[in-house]
Amino acid sequence: MIESIAIVGATGAVGRIIRQLLEERDFPYGKITFLASKRSAGTTITFKGEEHEVKLLCPEVFDDIDLAIGSTPDDVAAEFCPWAAERDCVVVDESGYWRMDPKVPLVVPEINPEAAAQHQGIISSPNCSTTQMVLAMKPLHDAGKIRRVIVSTYQATSGAGVQGQADLLDGSRAFLDDHKYDYQAFSHRIAFNLIPQIGSHKEDGYTSEEMKMVYETQKIFGDDSIKVCPTCVRVPVENCHSESMLVETEKKITVEQARELFAATPGIEVVDDLGNGLYPMPSICTGDDRTFIGRIREDLSCDNGLAFWCVSDNLRKGAATNAVQIAELLAT
Ligand SMILES: NC(=O)c1ccc[n+]([C@@H]2O[C@H](COP(=O)([O-])OP(=O)(O)OC[C@H]3O[C@@H](n4cnc5c(N)ncnc54)[C@H](OP(=O)(O)O)[C@@H]3O)[C@@H](O)[C@H]2O)c1
Repeated sequence: MIESIAIVGATGAVGRIIRQLLEERDFPYGKITFLASKRSAGTTITFKGEEHEVKLLCPEVFDDIDLAIGSTPDDVAAEFCPWAAERDCVVVDESGYWRMDPKVPLVVPEINPEAAAQHQGIISSPNCSTTQMVLAMKPLHDAGKIRRVIVSTYQATSGAGVQGQADLLDGSRAFLDDHKYDYQAFSHRIAFNLIPQIGSHKEDGYTSEEMKMVYETQKIFGDDSIKVCPTCVRVPVENCHSESMLVETEKKITVEQARELFAATPGIEVVDDLGNGLYPMPSICTGDDRTFIGRIREDLSCDNGLAFWCVSDNLRKGAATNAVQIAELLAT
């Protein structure tokens, strides 16, 4: 059993769900510590019916902690993960900072659980838009080897944290009331709008969020030959990312085979009955740990192509659930 566990960034959008998951699941630990910045240090969190004071993140706090699950901005993770690792505390980190470091495993437990065992103190959990995509890719890759993926995302505002959630609600109210609203998490109005940029401007006209989907996918599958062409779009949806995916395989997979492969994959739920208006939507997938797939059809533009629609709760499987599953791998 893990004696002492810490949740770093316990007050954030992902940290809140990690707390819920640790309450829901029978995760074995002796003592728990909640950490955040000076903004939240000193406030209290109710966990399993008991009040806990939020402590300030600092190096010494890891002296008697065995396992930390971190959900902080990248610059904070860059600093605190080494503090923990130097003190023999293993960190499962949600941030983007360590994911592509060759010494740091990037793990989705349904795909590469064995990678977690190679850790040197830090294990990364992927970007939320990557996690649901690679889960959907896994059975198709195993059956027919994926050559290429074209993916367009429709990403919820909760992907931008507590402030992103507030911006959608407060910005929408202000827009309807014809008031001015200063967006904090977004560089444009998100209420009644779409923003085709998530993250910063990177190489060749792609954004940082899009390049995460390319590189993280190749690292998780250990296969640089998989080509991914992403377009990431922020949409005025509170929670759950949706993705339109076109997947081209070396070996042909029919729609029926794909439906069976998805249905047999742990963590995937098929909802696919267009005639009766049944398909995954954020409104029905929120709060669920599964990745939902529907609208499965042949890609009319290529011989070995499949098109489908994939929805997952970005705060749960896209972040907190995946991190807690990694922690469970370490605890067993
Ligand atoms: N949201 C998603 O869907 C999602 C999915 C996958 C990965 N992630 C990643 O997970 C991380 C957290 O995202 P989030 O959406 O939960 O963000 P968030 O809602 O903004 O929460 C950030 C958390 O980090 C803490 N924090 C900020 N600065 C700190 C500092 N200097 N020292 C200690 N703690 C500090 C905050 O504490 P205070 O209360 O003290 O400010 C808060 O608890 C990010 O790296 C994000 O990219 C997010």
